[in-house]
Amino acid sequence: MSIIFYEKEKIFKLDTSDTSYVIKIYDENYLLNLYYGKKIPDVNFKGFEKRLPSASFSPSNPVIGEHGFSPDSAPIEYGCNGAGDFRISALSVRNANGDNVTDIRYVSHKIYAGKKPIPSLPSTYANTDDEAQILEITTEDKVTGLQAVLVYTVFENCPVMTRSIRLTNPTDKPMHVERVFSLCLDLPSMYYDMITLYGRHCCERNIQRRPLAHGVQGVESKRGVSGHSQNPFAAIVSRGADEDHGEAYGFNLVYSGNFSALAECDHNGTTRFIMGINPEGFEWFLDSGETFYSPEAVSVYTDKGIGEMSRIFHRFYNSNLIRGKYKTQKRPLLINSWEAAYFDFDTEKLVAFAESAKELGIEMLVMDDGWFGKRNCDNSSLGDWFVNEEKLPGGLKPLIERINQQGLKFGIWYEPEMISPDSDLFRAQPDWQVHVRDREPMIGRNQYVLDVSREDVRENIWGQIYKVLSENKIDYVKWDFNRNISDAGSALLPPERSKEFFHRFILGTYDLLNRLTTAFPDILLEGCSGGGGRFDPAMLAFSPQIWTSDNTDPIERLYIQFGTSMCYPASAQGAHVSACDRTGYKTKGDVAMWGTFGYELDPRKLTPEDREIVKNHVASYHKYYDLIRGGDLYRLISPFENSRLAAWQIVAGDKSSFLFTMVCMLKKDNVMTFVKFKGLDENARYKNEADGEIYSGAFLMNVGLNLTGCVNRDGESFTAYFTQV
Ligand code: DGJ
Repeated sequence: MSIIFYEKEKIFKLDTSDTSYVIKIYDENYLLNLYYGKKIPDVNFKGFEKRLPSASFSPSNPVIGEHGFSPDSAPIEYGCNGAGDFRISALSVRNANGDNVTDIRYVSHKIYAGKKPIPSLPSTYANTDDEAQILEITTEDKVTGLQAVLVYTVFENCPVMTRSIRLTNPTDKPMHVERVFSLCLDLPSMYYDMITLYGRHCCERNIQRRPLAHGVQGVESKRGVSGHSQNPFAAIVSRGADEDHGEAYGFNLVYSGNFSALAECDHNGTTRFIMGINPEGFEWFLDSGETFYSPEAVSVYTDKGIGEMSRIFHRFYNSNLIRGKYKTQKRPLLINSWEAAYFDFDTEKLVAFAESAKELGIEMLVMDDGWFGKRNCDNSSLGDWFVNEEKLPGGLKPLIERINQQGLKFGIWYEPEMISPDSDLFRAQPDWQVHVRDREPMIGRNQYVLDVSREDVRENIWGQIYKVLSENKIDYVKWDFNRNISDAGSALLPPERSKEFFHRFILGTYDLLNRLTTAFPDILLEGCSGGGGRFDPAMLAFSPQIWTSDNTDPIERLYIQFGTSMCYPASAQGAHVSACDRTGYKTKGDVAMWGTFGYELDPRKLTPEDREIVKNHVASYHKYYDLIRGGDLYRLISPFENSRLAAWQIVAGDKSSFLFTMVCMLKKDNVMTFVKFKGLDENARYKNEADGEIYSGAFLMNVGLNLTGCVNRDGESFTAYFTQV
């Protein structure tokens, strides 16, 4: 890892463990991106200017002259609006005169060790100062006075960079930030495919791959959350790249609000990629002396294929994003009451769940939605975070005591950013819902969104949450969010700031999450939004795990978990065994074992045979805990490419063992199934725990094993565990 400034060449070279990123201060202090890719030793970019054609109709900078350079065709480091670069811009700031031509040029820079947090926003971190280095390039728009600092972090142990930008208005007149992206990257070709993750409730993060084409393409959210529909992830990969070969650039925005990830292929056949806050519905009033901080974007590069890109994200998030006690401490194996009881429970039923779950080896009972106000279905009480004593007589204390007596920990559910029209809070504070003046707001799941952009609202909600968490022995909180945000507005925002609402809302959410994780560092927090509607790196910075989907059908989960694994580690993927009946319990457990693993059913209803299967899985949970959370994932057979089988493998970091899982989605007779394993030490010898057979790593990876007949019916699963001898 190093960041070096070559004074003579005016070049910055930012090296991670395996990548180089090169920026040049060009004539007239334009910042150009010369290279991002596999690590290179030198900075000899003399030939570079040959690839800056000045296209006709693309204006040139008058000082540099008409030949050889146009902002429209140069690989601009951070593209701005209106000053001769017609591609999608990363920055547009309207000044007090009303024009929004924006043109930032290099002024100065500094390089330092370590990594600083971004004020009010979650971000990745360095475990020690030696692990990361930062380059801050200060730029200025000479005409408006806008100051923009481009911030780059490189990491020592992995090919990861992060980027963000901060804007300061040092003038005495206000400015309006119309768009500010966290990352802008110009690539010298358009022969790439773009991979994104699309979905909906119960069907999150399907893999979409498309060839880049001339024009603008990409994904975004306008829902107030990162959302089920598109994830703030995109990869630009070389044509033909597969799991093991080819170049892959992966990008992920550390943000849970409206985002945009766009690629434009231009007239020169080059690609610009930008990722950041969605400019639609956004504007920030940057008053004199104020600073605006963009969220952080994570950027990964590898020339070893899409699978390796995912593993880089996984390792990086486990080590430099997920934090707190449960980053390393073993997480309790939980059972959640939702699919077992929905709103229909009381103390006796929950204690009965715990009694039965205890016999299976389960370690924590989570009481989901329905414990507060007078909530017996989804049409009331959000905002009234006090115990419903009709269900839980005497409150939480006697319930928790009885759960703890069974030896189980206790967890609870919240949906802090919502308000039911039928709630004491709404009756007292009707203005606290998200709304715009004179317009009846849309309702979703019988609820409005609570305006957590307001400090007074956050004080109230936090006060209620703090009371319950501080007065009771609570080990886990599930933080839910069950609708998208429409009618985006806050009663407190003046008209010139009304388009700040979405960003202020998400900053409010982060403030609440920060209060919770700071006041209760021992609580295990699980993020959730109607399943995986807010599965993003920013939520992972607070909650080490996120409920991946409300869909617990193991066959459908294969798609969801394969897609989610594009950039999110197994340690983060909330995965439970439920009572759904498409497959037997063995398959349900084998699929949920990929993620955090837990249960979501009434344990009293399990047959004696199924209870034995569950006990086996509980034993596997402990046996494979470290392997699954710390190991390397190999997607061997993807359900997106094979309608018959899905298979994956998790290999220990030191290659000393691996767990293989295969699921038959659709049985076809007489089809030979050879599986070649991946990621092993070819010279080591591995023993199959099931039959004692020993094979070299080279054999397992090149010849593979004949697994024909190991799964014989739709929905059947097979696992194998190998250890080095
Ligand atoms: C949506 C979540 O995804 C479910 O797991 C459950 O917590 C419900 N909300 C409760 O309303």
